[in-house]
Amino acid sequence: MKKPIKIAVVGSGYGRKVALPVYAELAEFEPVAVWSRRPERARELAAEAGVGLGTADFDELLSVPGLEAVHVATPVATHVQFVVAAAERGLHILCEKPMADNLAGARRIAAAIESAGVVGVVDYELRMEQTRQRVIERAREVVGRPRMVSVSLVQSDHADPDSRPYTWVHDAQLGGGRLQGYGVHDLDLVLELFPDIDAVAAASDVGVPVRRTEDDELRRVTAEDAYALLLRFSGGGLGVVTLVATARHGRSDVIEIHGDEGTVRLDGDRRVWWGRASEELQSEGPLDASSTKAFTQVARNFWAAVREGVAPDPSLQEGLRVQAIFDAVRAADIERRWVAPEPVTSPP
Ligand SMILES: NC(=O)c1ccc[n+]([C@@H]2O[C@H](COP(=O)([O-])OP(=O)(O)OC[C@H]3O[C@@H](n4cnc5c(N)ncnc54)[C@H](OP(=O)(O)O)[C@@H]3O)[C@@H](O)[C@H]2O)c1
Repeated sequence: MKKPIKIAVVGSGYGRKVALPVYAELAEFEPVAVWSRRPERARELAAEAGVGLGTADFDELLSVPGLEAVHVATPVATHVQFVVAAAERGLHILCEKPMADNLAGARRIAAAIESAGVVGVVDYELRMEQTRQRVIERAREVVGRPRMVSVSLVQSDHADPDSRPYTWVHDAQLGGGRLQGYGVHDLDLVLELFPDIDAVAAASDVGVPVRRTEDDELRRVTAEDAYALLLRFSGGGLGVVTLVATARHGRSDVIEIHGDEGTVRLDGDRRVWWGRASEELQSEGPLDASSTKAFTQVARNFWAAVREGVAPDPSLQEGLRVQAIFDAVRAADIERRWVAPEPVTSPP
């Protein structure tokens, strides 16, 4: 019999759409509270999800009797304050990605979790989607050393000023931007296969510079809706990670890994192709790319880390490793030069 973890969800976006329904479905969890900035919204969410408490008072949420864990799903720049307060109360943490808006913030999170002696997991779930899982497995089998890795995302959801309302996602100060949305997942995937990156170069752009809020106010967009990152791997090989969210015609993600021993490709029809040098490529698919299923895996891993002492996956160390590249990318973009990422080798 699995003893469920009593968990509180902080955030009414992803927290409501994905996290709460998954926790409600799994025997491993008992969602007991939910937080929104707006008290009324919090109560509505609690009623909708059938959890005991909906509140805008974070302290009240942390004081729920028997609470064991908190899932923080708020704007990136606010993760530190929520995570540190929860860890200091001895609660296990599932933190949304990226951990923070910079490496210093991510290190504060890792340090707070470590000194509280609680479990910390970072929600880099995309690499648990079946498509990406298979890319990783096949690449480990056939690719060898990297020669060229490319991850290309083409989305149309930001193509017009009215295609998505203005939120924190469009505000650089709150850690918004498509790099925090998708770029960090793609860096996480690349680092899973090729963890040693010597230097990065980067350019980002805002293609649609004004958006309307839900209250019909016009706001200037300060966070990127397109980027192109160049990676130089230690020991040779290059990586290219790109996204455009303002395309007129979106498509599924395309990933290509060309190594000295072979090739792996995820095509736009969600098929994975692979082969060693001199072999014809074989393929399987279309494969599943459900983010709900991927998050279910992260949630189960979190349970196993809390209840069975299994190593957290994705771990804080993996979160920090992405964050170091993310910081280097920001500096490279602003300063228009190659930047070496800060090493984050020792476990937190
Ligand atoms: N793992 C994944 O694949 C994945 C997917 C999507 C998002 N995420 C992550 O989840 C987190 C939240 O993203 P989201 O898409 O859920 O955002 P969202 O829909 O805008 O929800 C954000 C939550 O934070 C609150 N909030 C908004 N602005 C705030 C501010 N200035 N200070 C404090 N709280 C604020 C909102 O309050 P109200 O309740 O009042 O609106 C809401 O509860 C981010 O870290 C994002 O990267 C992860």
